[in-house]
Amino acid sequence: MGVADAVPGLLEALEAYRNYPAAQQPAWPDQAELAAAMAELATKPPLVFAGEADQLMERLAAAQRGEAFVLQGGDCAEIFAESDANRIRNKIRTVLQMAVVLTYGASLPVVKLGRLAGQYAKPRSSDTEVRDGQELPAYRGDAVNCFDFTAEARRPNPWRMVDAYHHSSSTLNLTRAFTMGGFADLRRVQEWNRGFTANPAYARYDELAAQIDSAIRFMAACGADFEALKSVEFYSSHEALLLDYERALTRIDSRTGLAYDCSAHFLWIGERTRSPEGAHAELLSHVRNPLGIKVGPSAHAGDLLRLIDKLDPRHQPGRITLITRMGAGEVRAVLPGIVRAIQTANRPVVWVCDPMHGNTFTTASGVKTRRFDTVMEEVKGFFEVLREAGEVPGGLHIELTGDDVTEVLGGSEEIDDAALGRRYESVVDPRLNHQQSLEMAFQVAELLQG
Ligand code: PEP
Ligand code: CO
Repeated sequence: MGVADAVPGLLEALEAYRNYPAAQQPAWPDQAELAAAMAELATKPPLVFAGEADQLMERLAAAQRGEAFVLQGGDCAEIFAESDANRIRNKIRTVLQMAVVLTYGASLPVVKLGRLAGQYAKPRSSDTEVRDGQELPAYRGDAVNCFDFTAEARRPNPWRMVDAYHHSSSTLNLTRAFTMGGFADLRRVQEWNRGFTANPAYARYDELAAQIDSAIRFMAACGADFEALKSVEFYSSHEALLLDYERALTRIDSRTGLAYDCSAHFLWIGERTRSPEGAHAELLSHVRNPLGIKVGPSAHAGDLLRLIDKLDPRHQPGRITLITRMGAGEVRAVLPGIVRAIQTANRPVVWVCDPMHGNTFTTASGVKTRRFDTVMEEVKGFFEVLREAGEVPGGLHIELTGDDVTEVLGGSEEIDDAALGRRYESVVDPRLNHQQSLEMAFQVAELLQG
């Protein structure tokens, strides 16, 4: 990738975001320090390649046609101190296990997208946090500052974006090794799923797991090439929040002269930064990656269409994924209007359900959580609304960990209020644990079989 070959005007266009209102950016205390860190980032190799992003675009176009199903999952916020091999392996293992169940349920290939290798920046509802009368900058993710509540830890430090790059790089390297190197072997993943349903708490999914077993035996009898099924395509994604970071990792593809944000294969714009007139829309309108847009219950259909027009003026299939996060109580009332508006305007989009972010609440004891049943209720509502409108429910976007945490209430191995305190590790949003994630996959597979 060389800079010399950019199509005319593109390099200027990539700087234009600086003149647009940018929501949710850290107040970097020292501009010279910021410039030095960005200059360093600009020298780094890309994390992903243009051709991979193009391939994902094709996979997403297939999902839009109803020929594939998307599974996007991972942490709300990745943490530097937790990007170790075991945690990464457990997360990937969880996504692979869910994907096998969903592949069977949908009878379709599953497009696997990790919320990982770059999910280090978070939007916040307030710029500052007050504890015991002391006011400090809010924690904005490990790419910006540190969670500890001291003035030094909370100071936005642009060099942390360089650290985020390195953590993304090592996470992606391990992810590529796991997904290409035999760890993803279909027969092994199904064995893990059998281990899950062997637990009496999940006996109700035993029949579906047995059906998958029998499908795999049938494939073997037909001479399926299981060697080829030892590796899977696995893509990276995160919220494109920190504009300077995303700009520094945007590179010109020397084959085409077009720009790609090489920090991840897929980038999404969050609920709080999706203004069609904002800097996030401006910067991302010039990169060729497939893009997501979070769509909450307050979304105005006209604004959303203006944003889609800005990001996808050529109506390219696979370019735009709408990740709806309405809340279980709102999805049936609000989503139909949004779907109709997109249908009327005839825009190609992939519809993906994020049943997490509209269903967060704080318990009496002050813990941020979600209820498994409420999350499932939103997924059901999403399927109903899309099917009613004659559209394809194209995928699922969830916050999960592969570990045994206790952050979301419910599930067959009931986590109750008291259990929440046992192993609550998330510094931002509560995640489904390994078992809850698999349970969701089995329930969504049942919905897909509809
Ligand atoms: C998130 O995905 O963690 C997030 C902040 O979501 P949203 O932009 O939908 O609120
Ligand atoms: Co979140």
